[in-house]
Amino acid sequence: MNTLLTYAAGAAIAFSAVALAGWQVHAETNRVKFPENLDTLVHYTGRQRGESVTHIKTTQNVIDTIKAGKPVPDGAQFVLIDYRNGELYRYFVMEKGANWGADYDDTRRTGNWQFQWYWADRTVNKAENTNRCQSCHQGASGNDFLFTHSEIQAFHGTPVN
Ligand code: HEC
Repeated sequence: MNTLLTYAAGAAIAFSAVALAGWQVHAETNRVKFPENLDTLVHYTGRQRGESVTHIKTTQNVIDTIKAGKPVPDGAQFVLIDYRNGELYRYFVMEKGANWGADYDDTRRTGNWQFQWYWADRTVNKAENTNRCQSCHQGASGNDFLFTHSEIQAFHGTPVN
């Protein structure tokens, strides 16, 4: 009986350790930070699909750099702000950093970009596996993983879309 109890207690501890480790993996954020300069970012394009309206933004400096045909600099952030029925719903952020791609294996890697989903209150959506973001954005690898690269070129002060 004693042995059984000890075993059960041990198993419970082992289980919670696994559960905790699992939780940590899940809740582990990556290197992306919520943009501190959100209010100063430039809205250069967006989308309207049904009840969703998005505003896609980055800094004027990043826009100027891309227009000049230079590579997107480390530290660049892009934000896709998603409104549903006129209410702020979520933020998608991608951020580039020196050698950040090394955090992932080659099949997952998106250059040196990392991705994050923030809810309207700016907390991370921990249920999201950002591998999903990366696997789709790999489709834009020819444009530094940016789907709206050509819209930056076309931007002259008023959102192009
Ligand atoms: C199924 C494909 C797909 C997935 C998954 C996806 N994206 Fe995108 N993303 C796009 C497309 C296409 C655009 C261009 C704008 C549009 O069509 O809405 C875009 C645009 C963006 C932009 C604006 C910069 C750019 O690339 O033009 C950001 C930031 C972004 N996505 C972040 C994310 C994040 C964060 C996730 C995961 C939480 C994610 N995306 C998941 C396809 C995807």
